[in-house]
Amino acid sequence: MSESRSAARRRVLRRRRQRRAVVLLALVATLIIALVVVLPRALAPDDAVAEPASTPAPPSSAPASTPTPTPETPEAEPALCETDAVTVALENGSDRDVIAAFGGAEPFRAAIADGAAPCVDLHEAGRLWVVANKRHPLDPIDYWPTPQARPQDTRIVAGGWLLDETAAALDELSADVRAAAGTIGVSSGFRPYDFQVDTYNRYVSMRGKAAADLRSARPGHSEHQTGLAVDVVACDSGCGDHDGFGGTPQSDWIAENAWRYGFIVRYEEGRTATTGYSAEPWHLRFIGQELAGAYADGGFHTLEEFFGLEPAPDYG
Ligand code: DAL
Ligand code: ZN
Repeated sequence: MSESRSAARRRVLRRRRQRRAVVLLALVATLIIALVVVLPRALAPDDAVAEPASTPAPPSSAPASTPTPTPETPEAEPALCETDAVTVALENGSDRDVIAAFGGAEPFRAAIADGAAPCVDLHEAGRLWVVANKRHPLDPIDYWPTPQARPQDTRIVAGGWLLDETAAALDELSADVRAAAGTIGVSSGFRPYDFQVDTYNRYVSMRGKAAADLRSARPGHSEHQTGLAVDVVACDSGCGDHDGFGGTPQSDWIAENAWRYGFIVRYEEGRTATTGYSAEPWHLRFIGQELAGAYADGGFHTLEEFFGLEPAPDYG
């Protein structure tokens, strides 16, 4: 072997040793990294997760800020008809007690008109607030009011029996209209169901059915059957009739002041589409001072409007 060949061989062996040393060194370094970094993490318990660097954002489903507390729903007021005051008054009290239990005449009216007083039957005969019209007969239809009395300080032309409270109120009105405008007389008061049969039939035979229906209620539909309605005429030297009453000083005074005594003029001019009757300035209806005051204050012209009822132009 020559000198140069032997030197080349030594260089090859030296490079091999160097490469083995590098590989060995890399293996040792890898082992050290595994022992120092990877192994402790692998052995750590599951919940030992490092804290994130900053406060995590809430999951999108969670509220981003403190929720506004829902205000507590206030306890619902009991319906008017379920209050003790109304229930007791309707069962055992007077009509005025019932009206007072609703908070007075206007709240009573408004509750009925708003449909908030289903316990008040507007067609119950014997109540101050009863509405008898062509769409609603009295309940019961053969109602007979008691106690009855005749006015003591009012001229009686015919009939004149009324519910005692109506008669007393008419005496007060009568005295004041006499002093202010002239005398009035009663021409018709309480008319029982059977009497109204005759009255209505007489009108039909005299005028025909259509005209009779504008002037006379059919039996069971007349306010005269309640003892709360009275027809009046003007009396000077003598007493006139119904048709002559409108336009008299007595009629004008009554139209203006009847409410003070608890009466309303039930069938006013121009209200036939609602009441079903021609004007009857002589037909007074007692509804009590409280309701009559609310009627006047509210500028009402029919009981149907007052209580929010549908018009009753005919018998449907
Ligand atoms: N004249 C009224 C409408 C009645 O007969 O009751
Ligand atoms: Zn009448």
